[in-house]
Amino acid sequence: MLIAQISDVHVGGARYHQDLLRTAIEEINAAGPDIVVVAGDLTDEGYPDQYPEAQKELEAIDCEHVVLVPGNHDARNVGYLRFEDTFGTRDKRLRLQVDGLEIALVAVDTSKPDLDEGEVGREHYGWIEEGFAGLADLRLFVCHHHLMPVPGTGRERNQVLDAGDVISLLRQLSVDLVLSGHRHVPYVWPVAGMFIVHSGTVSTLRTRGFPHPAYNLIRIEGGRIAVELCIPGSDRQSLGEYPRDWPEELSARHIDPFVRAQRGESLAND
Ligand SMILES: [Fe+2]
Ligand SMILES: [Fe+2]
Repeated sequence: MLIAQISDVHVGGARYHQDLLRTAIEEINAAGPDIVVVAGDLTDEGYPDQYPEAQKELEAIDCEHVVLVPGNHDARNVGYLRFEDTFGTRDKRLRLQVDGLEIALVAVDTSKPDLDEGEVGREHYGWIEEGFAGLADLRLFVCHHHLMPVPGTGRERNQVLDAGDVISLLRQLSVDLVLSGHRHVPYVWPVAGMFIVHSGTVSTLRTRGFPHPAYNLIRIEGGRIAVELCIPGSDRQSLGEYPRDWPEELSARHIDPFVRAQRGESLAND
């Protein structure tokens, strides 16, 4: 199974380069992923002219399952409503069939209008739990903001406000992969039975510690998860190849935490 992860497109921004996005999408289409995740900041300011352009460019992605969430930039200027008009719901719970495998995918909008800070929010916890309930061969969680600090990004900021509770919740729900963007630096944290994978900015020169635009290709096969960082039109490098399953003594999924993530009411009857 192959997952392509892109984020931080920033259509309309001063350092946005359309040719980088088009090159990345060409490369992704050539790789033939089963799922493409677009992890937020599709537009630079959420303006009415930026959404149609982002939609037009992203429509070139040739994949049956394309999952998008908004980022903090998309939520600016009431852009969160334009996101819904353009791409549909901001939160999603999906069950995908890929090569005979059942994938449980939960995607949450962590943005808040006109703020850079993000939050999953306690009201989402029960809803997330339901999304991962039952049997699944792979559990994916997608949100724009990062749950773990990302090195090479300067002063740490904008990690989701409830990161500790969310990581604990996802660990207990046996989530395998968390896919996020926001900090414009590609990085993988193996944490408590999960791989928290951050993508860089795919189509801008708004880079930080990793000085190139980038996206990720994640291969899951033969009991391994391999993450490859790709610079559009240029080099690729490994971000690690990891065992798919964590030993129980390392994941410690079933330890009863003394701090419990508070469950809010379920949001939707989707
Ligand atoms: Fe961004
Ligand atoms: Fe962002």
